[in-house]
Amino acid sequence: MTTIDLHAEVFNPVYLPHLKNNARQQVFFGGASSGKSVFLAQRVVYDLLSGGRNYLIARQVGRTLRGSVFTEIQKVLGDWHVNELFSVNKSDMLITCENGYQAVFAGLDDVAKLKSLTPAKGAVTDVWVEEATEIERASIKELIKRQRGGSEKTPKRLTLSFNPILKAHWIYEEYFSPIAWADDQTEYRSDALTILRTTHKDNKFLTPDDVNDLESETDAYYRDVYTLGKWGVLGNVIFTNWVMADLDDPASEYYLPEAQRTNRRHGLDFGFSSDPAAVPFTHYDRARKRIYVYDELYETGLTNDVLAEILKTKQTRDIVIADSAEPKSIAELRARGVDVYPAHKGPDSVLFGIQWLQQQTIVVHKHCINMRNELSQYKWREDGQGRAMRQPVDRNNHLIDGLRYAYETEMIDQKPEYLPGIYK
Ligand SMILES: Nc1ncnc2c1ncn2[C@@H]1O[C@H](COP(=O)(O)OP(=O)(O)OP(=O)(O)O)[C@@H](O)[C@H]1O
Ligand SMILES: [Mg+2]
Repeated sequence: MTTIDLHAEVFNPVYLPHLKNNARQQVFFGGASSGKSVFLAQRVVYDLLSGGRNYLIARQVGRTLRGSVFTEIQKVLGDWHVNELFSVNKSDMLITCENGYQAVFAGLDDVAKLKSLTPAKGAVTDVWVEEATEIERASIKELIKRQRGGSEKTPKRLTLSFNPILKAHWIYEEYFSPIAWADDQTEYRSDALTILRTTHKDNKFLTPDDVNDLESETDAYYRDVYTLGKWGVLGNVIFTNWVMADLDDPASEYYLPEAQRTNRRHGLDFGFSSDPAAVPFTHYDRARKRIYVYDELYETGLTNDVLAEILKTKQTRDIVIADSAEPKSIAELRARGVDVYPAHKGPDSVLFGIQWLQQQTIVVHKHCINMRNELSQYKWREDGQGRAMRQPVDRNNHLIDGLRYAYETEMIDQKPEYLPGIYK
């Protein structure tokens, strides 16, 4: 048996009491860079070494795990000098401790993989859903039902981590309303549920630059959510003209089976490390001024060759209109067989595009959670008195930018008097 000497200093102190927290459901939420993901990654390694727990680590889209949690955990293995006690299967994203206990990774979008998960030893006791605001309420219920195993010493646990993007989110309704959570509360504890709210102030490992970035945020909403870690409440949102719908449901007034998604428009906003590459896949019903967003791509860490492959599997022959600021990326995608063209953009195109989109009804397929989050959060910048200025906050607008690119030709076709210079 191996003994590992682990110092408390490697942890942020606020999380230490949760290292052996056995509550059935555990919520870790708060501001950006507050140390949530690193702590939970540390806890996975700690639990695997201790034995008795197998983890399922999930996010909405399986691929996004690779650049986030899967990488974080490997970093912990290195930092703690325990690499030789683990085997890491990179292609299957599987981490196995020498004692046989495992962490498996799966996207909630990958039903087949979720169904076939069986750890080498024992059952899955732990489910950790990272960035849980990306997922639907029904998916959590499914996960809870699937959890088997657990013993008195290592009971079943469900852990959620996220930023509190919207008080209107189902997570608030499910976990926070019933216990009458107060906005400035930092902790809640019962056997069934614990909640911990943290901010960058709880993270002793941040550099002064990181801290300054967060503390210089002037927008009230973004300050609340990402600096103070409080549930966001939105005023001055830009889009209210959208609905979530099940496009596959014949009983829905927005029913649009795949065969009818024929007038397709897709737009691409590039991103790599901190911003995601984002593409809304849409169908336009011009007569009813309805934009149907039936699928989305929203991922960081995609190189252009991988992006090209994904685009080709999502739509084989359609045109994609991309941000013209990255001609090299456009050329690379074209070389890999994606029919992509640069958007024109130009001065005022953002405001004009917003105005045009506001005149449509945007129907978002129920699975397109990132589109929903962006439409909910996209807002006008506010002055000191909280009044909206004619300038959107330049955040959470990746899919929305993609939408503007996708519909640029429609906008030009309308040729209204107030078209900005570039379109004349
Ligand atoms: N225990 C730790 N040891 C070393 N560095 C740490 C530790 N905890 C956090 N950090 C540093 O702080 C950074 C931010 O932490 P982390 O990514 O865990 O924050 P987060 O709360 O998940 O943020 P977000 O809400 O943006 O996802 C990490 O990238 C890492 O550099
Ligand atoms: Mg995180």
